[in-house]
Amino acid sequence: MEQQDLRSLLRIRSCILVVVLLAAAAGGRDSRAEAAVLEYDWVVGYLAAAPDCVEKMVIAINGQFPSPTIHAVEGDTLVVKLKNNLPTEGVSIHWHGIRQRGTPFYDGSAFVSQCPINPGETFTYKFVVDRAGTYFYHGHLAMQRVAGLFGSLIVSLPSGKTEPFSYDGDLSVLLSDWYHKSIYQQELGLSSIPFQFVGEPQSLLIQGRGKYNCSLDLPPGGSAATSSPDCLQCNATNPACAPFVLPVQPGKTYRLRIGSMATLSSLNFKIENHNLTVVAADGRYVEPFVVDNLDVYSGQSYSVLLTANQDPTRNYWVGVNVRGRKPATPTGLAILQYLPNSEHLLPPTPAPTGPVWNDFAVSLAQAQKYSAKKGLESAPPTTSHKLIIFLMTQNIINGYTRWAVNNISQVPSATPLLAAFKFKLWNAFDQTPPPRRPPQYTNNKHFDIFATPNPNTTHASLGNGVYVSKLGEVVDIVIQNTNTLVPNNSEIHPWHFHGHDFWVLGYGEGVFDPRNSTKTYNLVNPPLRNTVAVFPYGWVAIRFIADNPGVWPFHCHVEPHLFVGMGTVFAEGIHKLPHIPSQTLGCGLTKPTRW
Ligand code: C2O
Ligand code: CU
Repeated sequence: MEQQDLRSLLRIRSCILVVVLLAAAAGGRDSRAEAAVLEYDWVVGYLAAAPDCVEKMVIAINGQFPSPTIHAVEGDTLVVKLKNNLPTEGVSIHWHGIRQRGTPFYDGSAFVSQCPINPGETFTYKFVVDRAGTYFYHGHLAMQRVAGLFGSLIVSLPSGKTEPFSYDGDLSVLLSDWYHKSIYQQELGLSSIPFQFVGEPQSLLIQGRGKYNCSLDLPPGGSAATSSPDCLQCNATNPACAPFVLPVQPGKTYRLRIGSMATLSSLNFKIENHNLTVVAADGRYVEPFVVDNLDVYSGQSYSVLLTANQDPTRNYWVGVNVRGRKPATPTGLAILQYLPNSEHLLPPTPAPTGPVWNDFAVSLAQAQKYSAKKGLESAPPTTSHKLIIFLMTQNIINGYTRWAVNNISQVPSATPLLAAFKFKLWNAFDQTPPPRRPPQYTNNKHFDIFATPNPNTTHASLGNGVYVSKLGEVVDIVIQNTNTLVPNNSEIHPWHFHGHDFWVLGYGEGVFDPRNSTKTYNLVNPPLRNTVAVFPYGWVAIRFIADNPGVWPFHCHVEPHLFVGMGTVFAEGIHKLPHIPSQTLGCGLTKPTRW
């Protein structure tokens, strides 16, 4: 009953677009010349939904899962009035890929840029989307993204500016993986002794829809009624979990935007019988190249061109599979519908499969195909002012299983770090910056990344120190992978930087060598990105310019990894921080002292 009330309440608070100049007909592609202010009225609440045919509680915006897609035009100002209707928890929304120049306080990471928004309170985000591209927004407090709190943010070019490729229509799919266990149970397991990992997801979703294989929950010879509680609700005929449909006109070319908000899984995207031409990644242009399947890591977005040039009398499967972890999740499916075929016309072929899950050479080779589009993207400075080497290790700290970078496992501070820098609240966080080198390097000892378990197992501690850069400094970061606590196991970690795009200078296998590995860097046309994957037992090198005064998280986008410490924070231009709106304050040391 209460659930009903909540749902109808959410339904009536629909989004109000103050300036409705957007030509939504072509998926926001036909756009206006003038920048506008787009206002949204959002309510965050719990919702009973069955994205994969199994009913579950999700965290939704205005009663929708995935949360509503925002279509904006480059230069627009977004004003999002967010009311927190979650009765027992705070919330914050991060605008993933938006650099927030001049508005670091609206970046939306809880305890870095703001205090969580308390139950019942309303917070207004206001920022400019300054570059066209495919972006996201998502919850950024504990594991709320995993509960379904995410959506697409698509920014088009204003009329008068043209893309360096042409297409007839604009389509988009948001990929994710899906768990039946609540995020609260997942968080409990991750912070327990013994450690309980979240495990592999139950389903893969395309635009919020998938189909759980209900028979997986059936005991031998059992019926649905005797199966686990999850499956009592499994209703495979629920129209809400019918496959998502991408309609195309035969002969036409589409720009397909693909993004991943996955919790854990690295995904591989494939459309049977169709090649895809990659033209953009993370909102930046790349030199086009053709693939038959596309790796998409959590936090990344791509634009690919897709031409409907196959037999038009049938439809085709769109399939998503897990990479890099032994798959225990069925292929996620959607349908590419050749009009005027019915969307119910199922393809007569089996579900598409990607490369073998542990063929990392294939993924590395694809990652190395990216280069910046000539003439449209800038080259990096040819040298940097400093090099930071991140050694990522899995550790045991006081009995807890944690991830660490250079032996520091990140814990949030109770005071938003941006406010701590602005108001000089030095008691709010560790004043010793985290190490710029793995401890083993400074001791001149070589760290064995292949050792099982890694030599750092018991040497890490919890912390929340910040790497501080001077404004304008050019910084290189090398992220070095190692063996986990499991013998012969090393995992993929997609690292995402808030507030910046960075150049991906190169990848390598084994141990990064500051003298020789740098010789392999691409300094001519490396791609610009905001999220990059580091592969098992390898490293990736990035370069960024610290030119955005603010305090910016840099972390693995795998949510259970971040939850147990796999991240850090960078600050720059701390003498040039803007005025901070009071609505971001009120927790930790930013509580008002007078009444
Ligand atoms: Cu999409 Cu801090 O993450
Ligand atoms: Cu990770």
